[in-house]
This record gives sequence, structure tokens and C-alpha cells, in this order.
Amino acid sequence: MSNVSALEGLREEALAALAAAPDESALEQWRITFFGRQDGRVTALLRAIKDVPASERAAYGASANAVKQELEGALEGRREALKQAALRALSTESALDVTLPGRPQVIGRLHPVTQTMRDCLKAFGDMGFRVAEGPEVEWDRYNFDGVRIPEDHPARDMWDTIWVNTLIDGKRHMLLRTHTSPNQVRVLERTPAPPVRVVVPGKCYRQEATDATHEWMLTQIEGLAVDEGVRMSDLKGVLYEWSRQMFGQDRKIIFHHSYFPFVEPGVEMAIDCFICRGNGKECRTCHGTGWIEILGAGMVHPEIIETAGYDSSKVTGFAFGIGVERVALLRWGIEDIRNFYANDIRFLSQF
Ligand code: DAH
Repeated sequence: MSNVSALEGLREEALAALAAAPDESALEQWRITFFGRQDGRVTALLRAIKDVPASERAAYGASANAVKQELEGALEGRREALKQAALRALSTESALDVTLPGRPQVIGRLHPVTQTMRDCLKAFGDMGFRVAEGPEVEWDRYNFDGVRIPEDHPARDMWDTIWVNTLIDGKRHMLLRTHTSPNQVRVLERTPAPPVRVVVPGKCYRQEATDATHEWMLTQIEGLAVDEGVRMSDLKGVLYEWSRQMFGQDRKIIFHHSYFPFVEPGVEMAIDCFICRGNGKECRTCHGTGWIEILGAGMVHPEIIETAGYDSSKVTGFAFGIGVERVALLRWGIEDIRNFYANDIRFLSQF
């Protein structure tokens, strides 16, 4: 057999083997058989060029190189064909459809109480209030004494307190704050002179049996504005604007007298019932009164102004305390406050 016909035989054999190679590992086997550096059959034929008689060498060398190039090209072609076939098989024969769009990612969102909180802070921010914060674990002298609720004062019963079990001089003084009002004292204490205009958001805690309108943890916003000449009408204006921002431009508000030890006079503010619009004798939201109690407020007690080192004959102020969960309940018509902290994603993802 001439060298050239040996070449041709090898070429045909290699092409046939390649066409029959079913997968990547067969391709690799084929490559070793024909192109392996030691024993590859094409490698051997190339190496044999030097043994060919000089008169045939050039022609043989050219053919051998041509066969080598053709086979290398064929290997790449076969590899690509196998890849395409595998993809086709994936998309048609198996259950996996690679053309399907991906699964949507679940996107988180802010908790409804957080959303409500942010909207409230935005409304007050636009009216010139800055945000201050205070500790959730609080001293009784701020939570109670500083806001004129001394020990044995019956008003302490308004806040069933969760005390921290640490004794100082044989008594408990540390507690989970029952309201954000201690921050009235904290903010005044660190502000050498008026004006003061802050809102203090935060969690509060009460030892309370839970029901549809009570939770042992709640979120409040305390508001405090102190300066020369601050009047009750300023309080009304600020809270009216906030109500309209939160509940709509046609809201009405009303103030009833109420008692809180740290303000004088003290009031409770209600908004007109936007559920029954005052027409529902059976309305579950306003209980037929047409008004929904929404927050406590008042003019800061002169004693608190004096304790801050300000002259209470010139300096006055107002304060208010908003229950943020209550605002969120009303805003979305939610019936049970316990939903907020039950961590049920089906509930939370509605807002
Ligand atoms: N701290 C009161 C509470 O938790 C709410 C409150 C009422 C705050 C009247 C005030 C206020 O600043 O003036 O029930």
C-alpha cells in the first residue's frame, strides 16, 4: 500500500469513527486515537514524512497535512453538532424547557406599620420637626417621675409596666418604656435653650392582655414643640395638617378634654369617621359616635418646662402621642391589631 493510499484509508476510517462518536467522552477517545502525541495514528503518519523517499516526500507531506487539517476541522464540527443535539434534546424531550422565563423573585416590602410610620414622619418633617430617638429600656425617672407620674400616683395604673428584674438599692428602676413621652424630658434636658421641635418614634411595651385593639408591644410617635409663644392653636394646626396628610384632605378633627399628667390642658383628638361618615349607628370603627379617637395631646406642663431650665412665664409648648398601629388599622380598615405581628406573609404582602 502506497503511503498516499494509507493516508486516504486512515482519513476515511477517522471520519467514520467521528461520525459514530456519540458524546464528548467518545470525542476525547477519538482525539487520543488519532492525534495523541505519543501513539496517535495521524501523528505517526506525520512523523513518517521523513521516511518517505525524497521524490514523493513533498506530495506526501502536503496530503498528510491536508488530512490533518481536515480531521481537526471535522472534530470541531462534530463537537458543535453534538452540543446542538444535546440542547435540542433538553428542550424537546425532557421536562425542562430552557426557553421558559425564569421564576419571578419574591420582592420584599416595608411592614405596614413601618410604612405608616414613615408617612407620619414625612408629614411632620415637612412641618419642621426633626426626628430624635430614645432608649426602649428606660429609667423610671424618665418614664414616670419626669413626666409627673410619681410613685403611687394613680396614673401609673394607666400603664401596666414590664419591669426589668434588676434591683438598685433594693428597688426596680429599669423598665421597658410604656410610652415615648419620657423623650420629652430627654430632649429638653439636652437642649440648652428653645426652640425644640421633634418627633420621637419608637416601640413601647405594656403588660397587657392582647385583643383586637391591644398588643403588648406598640409603636408610638411622640411630638414636642417648645418655644416662646407656642399656643394650643399651633397644636391644632399641626395635628390637623397631619390628619389630612394621613387620612385625606376632607378630614375633620375634634378635641375633647382628657387627662395626662404631663400636659395641661390635656386633650384627646378624634377624626370624623371616614368609614360610616357619621351615618352608621352600628359602625364598628366609631361605635356610632361619628368620631374616632386617635391620639392624646396637650400643652406641656409648666413644671416640665421649668425642670428643663426654661422660663415657663415665657416659654410654652405642646406635646402629642400617636399610636402608629392604630393609624395603620384605620388607614387600611384592618380589624385586628394582632395581624401586624403574627408574621403571616399573606397578610403582610397586601400592603
Ligand atoms: N404618652 C401617652 C400614652 O402613651 C400619650 C400622650 C398623651 C402623649 C398626651 C402626649 C400627650 O405627648 O400630650 O398614652
